[in-house]
Amino acid sequence: MPIGVFDSGVGGLTVLKAMRDLLPNEDLVYLGDTARLPYGTKSPASINRYASQATLQLQQQGIKLLVVACNTASAVAIDALRKQMHPLPVIGVVEPGAMAAVESCPGGAHLVLATEATVQLGAYRNAIRERDAAAEVRELACELLVSLAEEGWTDGAIAEAIVRRYLEPLTEASYVADSIILGCTHFPLLRSAIEATVDAGTTIVDSASTTAAFARHMLDDDDLLNDQSAAGRLRLLATDGATRFARVGGRFLDENLVAADIELVDL
Ligand code: DGL
Repeated sequence: MPIGVFDSGVGGLTVLKAMRDLLPNEDLVYLGDTARLPYGTKSPASINRYASQATLQLQQQGIKLLVVACNTASAVAIDALRKQMHPLPVIGVVEPGAMAAVESCPGGAHLVLATEATVQLGAYRNAIRERDAAAEVRELACELLVSLAEEGWTDGAIAEAIVRRYLEPLTEASYVADSIILGCTHFPLLRSAIEATVDAGTTIVDSASTTAAFARHMLDDDDLLNDQSAAGRLRLLATDGATRFARVGGRFLDENLVAADIELVDL
């Protein structure tokens, strides 16, 4: 059976890419809910409903594990999705991200860059403080960075100026973070712009590879790893805009995609 991965759009392809690298023999089915992107500015009730419908679509494909490759959906809906998928396992991106941050800077000062919904719920703050009571956590909603990544304006003067503008209140208060957590699927694409605007000693934490490692560990523990020797197959599903998904998603996946590679589905 394939592993199901979903995100509100193409951003979760950063997680999918890490999973393909680490689990090359696994079949994967990815669903991007492009018709309803962004989730990050929606209410918890809407995000819960969207996440549940996306999960149902993947359940109908017959998956053995669900990876919620969307920080916002992970922050809002992970408990409900675990109930929906029971007894099959569900992995979100917040817990692996929090774990990676705590491991890289124990007792440190962490700055989380995320969407409004993720920040409002304090998802990373709670996940980090559960693992490290001495940690200090600040969270910053940076909605415009999602649009920048979608547009492909991920480095250079414009991207750096916008990152700097978001960080301005902290810079003015002389706040220096030990780690910056990329708490949104789109932000790994802006990594170089973020690195250019922060202190050289700051660790940048990205949950994609930790999430993939989590998935491998979980499948191994449950004896669910695919033992085929051939490379795993990838199916890409979206709820709207196959051409745009291919163009933007190709950048996230670091691969050439065409509209015909994307299957449109209705949730
Ligand atoms: N996938 C979302 C996240 O990681 C970002 C885009 C959105 O707001 O839907 O939080």
